[in-house]
Amino acid sequence: MSSLNAILSNSITPTTNLHSPTNSKIPKVSSIHLQCARVHSSLVSEPEKKSSVVDSSSSKAGFLGSKEVIETEGNVFVRTYARVPLVLESGKGCKLYDVDGKEYLDMTAGIAVNSLGHCDPDWVKAVVEQANTLTHVSNVYYSIPQVKLAKRLIESSFADRVFFSNSGTEANEAAIKFARKYQRHLHPDEKQPPTEFISFTHSFHGRTMGSVALTSKEHYRLPFDPVMPGVTFIEYGNIEEAKKSIVARRTAAVFVEPIQGEGGIYSATKEFLQTLRNVCNDTGALLVFDEVQCGLGRTGYLWAHEVYGVTPDIMTLAKPLAGGLPIGATLTTERVAAAINFGDHGSTFAGGPLVCHAAIAVLDKIQKPGFLASVTKKGLYFKELLAQKTEGNQHVKEIRGLGLIVGIELDVPASPLVDACREAGLLILTAGNGNVVRLVPPLIISEQELEQAAEVLAKCLPVLDQTAT
Ligand SMILES: Cc1ncc(COP(=O)(O)O)c(C=O)c1O
Repeated sequence: MSSLNAILSNSITPTTNLHSPTNSKIPKVSSIHLQCARVHSSLVSEPEKKSSVVDSSSSKAGFLGSKEVIETEGNVFVRTYARVPLVLESGKGCKLYDVDGKEYLDMTAGIAVNSLGHCDPDWVKAVVEQANTLTHVSNVYYSIPQVKLAKRLIESSFADRVFFSNSGTEANEAAIKFARKYQRHLHPDEKQPPTEFISFTHSFHGRTMGSVALTSKEHYRLPFDPVMPGVTFIEYGNIEEAKKSIVARRTAAVFVEPIQGEGGIYSATKEFLQTLRNVCNDTGALLVFDEVQCGLGRTGYLWAHEVYGVTPDIMTLAKPLAGGLPIGATLTTERVAAAINFGDHGSTFAGGPLVCHAAIAVLDKIQKPGFLASVTKKGLYFKELLAQKTEGNQHVKEIRGLGLIVGIELDVPASPLVDACREAGLLILTAGNGNVVRLVPPLIISEQELEQAAEVLAKCLPVLDQTAT
């Protein structure tokens, strides 16, 4: 372990123009736009040019800096994202660079996506290799990377079968449909087979109409009512309530995150998950583990549920699986899969050769001997460091999490701290009701970088005193 004192005595002030040599090969945003505009203007005839074609002198031709990008975004996007004023241009390892060349230490990993960091050379090689071979084919046909990835996931988990999709919410939509179809298949003579679902407080399962119905925060659900009916929310961890609410002939499935991410970094207990397993067995409901955020090595275990020794009937994955390319996966048992027929579900893009080849490169790395143990070790060290550096701070209520999914609960909103850290060159996220700092760095982060993150965080903590008064 590198010396903490040596690191702390170093300057943590972000420096400018720290682009790595590889970044010099990446064309600036402005030059990409200018090149495109030039091609356009040489290919179109005069009359078309007036009505629809981008002129290289127009405001769309190129962006000069972050201010212009932010202003333009404000004029052209549907306002779904409350973004922070930061335009990122490139990344390497755990570092990100904005358009002005300022360096940031990335403790967000694209919200638990970039487990291998940015531009991992083996991942880039795999993507380029596959892009040069075959990027997309319809699921009408077979492709080798897709079958290889499915086989790999099955060999590494409880599951017998896989369905690929393109995101976490889609992986959960597939799980919802599989649960409904399984129950229909199991109760062929019943007019009303079990169709209802159990979900939990602080849960987040996505934003499509099924997954959002399972998501606890009303803010995400109520504007879109009626969402999928038949969901009962019970308190995360409440064993007695779970026993009462999961009902035979009514409950189709129970959706639970073994470690909740978006909701505020809450970990289940073994007793809670084991009770859910037992009650599902007794009632015929399926147990679905949403490991979209906590799965694939983030806890120091390949699957978060390994920590508890409890196995689900369905597990959903997404975020880190393809190292930053869009993918979702719904893994299940033969028993559930037997209820699914041709045409019951599908997707144009899902499980294409490019994303699947990239995902195999990710699995190759995180399944290397010692990799997961290093996540555990770094996670423990990081929590220790945070505890040490924040000790005595009146706003820090709890430091929790497992492996490299870490939460710091505050008694005030975390956003002033997030802003101050960003100014100081550290990117962090919030979770829960905005009062939890969420730290989900690339899993390849070094101990030295964790020390730097803890140091910046601690130095920025006084900003919370100003907001508290
Ligand atoms: C546990 C969990 N499930 C599902 C999702 C939805 O994933 P996506 O945004 O890829 O649809 C998320 C996203 O944060 C998540 O954390």
